[in-house]
Amino acid sequence: MHLVFADNTDDFYQKSAERIAEVIRKKPSAKIGLSTGRTTKGVHAALAEEWRRNPFDCSGIKVFGIDEITNMSRECRASCYYILLHEVVEPLAVPMENYIMPDPMAADLQEECLRFEEAVMADGGPDFIFLGLGENGHLGFNQPGTNFGQTAWLSWMDDSLNERLRRENDIPENVVMGGLTLGIKNLMQCPRLVMAANGRNKKEVAEKMIMGPVTEALPASVLQLHPGCEVILDPDAAGAL
Ligand code: GLP
Repeated sequence: MHLVFADNTDDFYQKSAERIAEVIRKKPSAKIGLSTGRTTKGVHAALAEEWRRNPFDCSGIKVFGIDEITNMSRECRASCYYILLHEVVEPLAVPMENYIMPDPMAADLQEECLRFEEAVMADGGPDFIFLGLGENGHLGFNQPGTNFGQTAWLSWMDDSLNERLRRENDIPENVVMGGLTLGIKNLMQCPRLVMAANGRNKKEVAEKMIMGPVTEALPASVLQLHPGCEVILDPDAAGAL
């Protein structure tokens, strides 16, 4: 694990976006995993801006989201499909057939996990995955307590995220949201990872992820064991590190 300290918010988004752009510039056929959330929204905006200023060819890359919210329509703006489509796939002109996502409404979601994992791991698997940090230390939707050997599966959503998504997106109460996510084993198999965390709400969890014990109680701590993982922190998340 290699730490990168950004000077300020702009620098944080710049440095993060540069990592993704660099992968695409070096390998125009790269398979890239992305995350959704408040952190990556700014990263993707900086990436699209970089693409406009210094265009790079995205017609050969493959893009997938590392997780999705189950039982939620792809038209809902909280769905990971919708977010990555509007933040990355369309702005960077990635061909739709190169956009890999699980179907959150599949009749058999267990089966869908296998199908999604197969699509992600095909042809040598991902070259690069960009990760965000859950406030409770989750990676994708791998919540505290998830086995490090876990492959793609149906997980649950923590209460704070559940509550925030409902509040921000007017999600009806009868929709029971869950997480369909690549497992920790899938993420750790990728040769290059970047984890980005910003804001005061990530300070404590970032410190535990980096300095604390490697434990399934804090899924992101597994990244300490990954030699090709870079962690980018803004000054608020870096705190006293
Ligand atoms: C969600 C996603 C994660 C993401 C995390 C961080 O739970 N499932 O993949 O990394 O949130 O989100 P934020 O940046 O909004 O804190």
